[in-house]
Formats: sequence, structure tokens, C-alpha cells
Amino acid sequence: MKGIILAGGFGTRLYPITKVTNKHLLPIYNKPMIYYPIEAMVKAGINRIIIITNPPHINDFVNLLGSGQDFKDKNGKQIQIVYGIQNKPSGIADGLWIAKDYIGTENCILILGDNIFWDDLTTHLKKFKDGAMIFLKEVGDPQRFGIAEIDENNNVISVAEKPKKPKSNLAITGIYVYDNTCFKKCIGQRASARGEYEITDINNLYLKEGKLRAIKLKKEWFDAGTIESLLETSNFVKSYHEKHSSTTKN
Ligand code: DAU
Repeated sequence: MKGIILAGGFGTRLYPITKVTNKHLLPIYNKPMIYYPIEAMVKAGINRIIIITNPPHINDFVNLLGSGQDFKDKNGKQIQIVYGIQNKPSGIADGLWIAKDYIGTENCILILGDNIFWDDLTTHLKKFKDGAMIFLKEVGDPQRFGIAEIDENNNVISVAEKPKKPKSNLAITGIYVYDNTCFKKCIGQRASARGEYEITDINNLYLKEGKLRAIKLKKEWFDAGTIESLLETSNFVKSYHEKHSSTTKN
């Protein structure tokens, strides 16, 4: 399985901070935001990753991350990082499509670069065979997210992108695991009313096939795409570090 991290978009919700800098290069406490999804993938055993970003910022990512020399897999071997360019922020499914040739015939995990989380995905990825997996988290403001409705056995009943009347408070986080049919599913998709190729449309196709599984995240999850959540995420990481360092000292 290979990894795809989306780090494009204009980050307009963070203006003027993101006027000349890509959102995913902003600090989350002591590290650039992009480190978190990379580390989450490496922890889960993914060692080949494509980062998709926009033309003005691609060189900044190359300068920061190079070929992945700062990240080592469980055997101490350097992971591979390569890059893809998204000319316009045409949607998450458009970013997925850009990674098609790099992914080849393999399965993939797609993580949105502004999603920061602490669950270890290793077991889920090991068990994954086909279809798609989405990861859910309860939120207080469901209108802001893709929302999944599930039954008592965690079977997905419906998925909707930022619904006005959400059927649950379970946000679909920016972590998606797909078999290779995701690329066929991208063909023939239409842009939504907001002009984006929606990842929710791809998830809906898996749902129609009865191949969309949902997993609830157990630990903290943040979408650091707003001023409030950017600060909240940094504060959380700071307190985590303080707690952790005091535990090791004692
Ligand atoms: O954070 C989870 C949510 O992310 C999901 O619940 C939603 O279903 C999903 O649509 C998405 O919603 P957002 O409104 O947060 O998406 P945003 O436009 O902020 O983009 C999310 C990330 O993907 C961000 O790191 C930028 C990147 N991106 C986004 C688009 C639209 C790209 O790289 N290219 C794009 O074209």
C-alpha cells in the first residue's frame, strides 16, 4: 500500500497567515503540520508517499522534506517521498486522481494534510483487503464536515458532504483507505456545486457496492484548517509533550 497526502488548496480560512506560505508548512507546536500525516503513515507501515501540492509551494516542500531523508521505517530504512502537482484546488477526489500513476496497481491510504490524529492505523491497514475504509469522529459542529450515518454494527447507511441537516454527529475524518478501484470510480465524476470533485462522491460509490466500512477513531483528531483549530491543535500537542516529558522524568 502507498500513501497520498494532500497539501494543496489556498488555505483561505487562515489568511493572511497563508498568503505566501502553504498551510501545511505552518507550525503545529514544534513541527510543520505536514510532519504529522507523514509520521502517522510511517507508524502504520507506509514507506512510499506522494505529497500533492500547488505550483507556488512545491519547492518549499522539496526543500523541507527532500526525498524523505528525515523519516525512517521500522527497519531504520529511509522512506520515499515524491511529489505531485495540483494546478487548482479542484477537490480531494481530484488530488486522488493525480496520484493514480504513482499508486499504480496498489491500494492506497489518502490523508488530508491538515488532519492531525493520534490513533495508530497499523492494524486496520494490515486487515484491509478491498473496498474502502473511512474513519469517524464525533464532533459538535457536523455542518462543517463530511458526515456518516451508521447502524449499531458500524455499517454505513449514508454519507453526505457538509449537510445542512446532518443525520449524525460523526464526522468523516480526512483519512481514507481505498482499493485500486478508487481510480476507476473517479472517471466520469462531475464537480459539485462548489466546483470541487468531492471525495464523498467516491465514498458513495463504495457504499452502493456495499464496500464502505467505518471505523471510529478512539484518540484525539483535529482538522487544523481554521485559526481556532490551528491554535487548539498546537495547544493539545504542547500539553501532550509536557505530560509525556514529565512522565519520562519521573
Ligand atoms: O477534515 C475532514 C474534512 O475534510 C471532511 O470531513 C470533508 O468531508 C472533506 O471534504 C474535507 O473538508 P474541508 O472543508 O476541511 O476540506 P478543505 O477544503 O479544507 O481541504 C482539506 C485538505 O485537503 C486541506 O489540507 C487541503 C487539501 N486540499 C483540498 C482541496 C479541496 C487539496 O490538497 N486540494 C484540493 O483541491
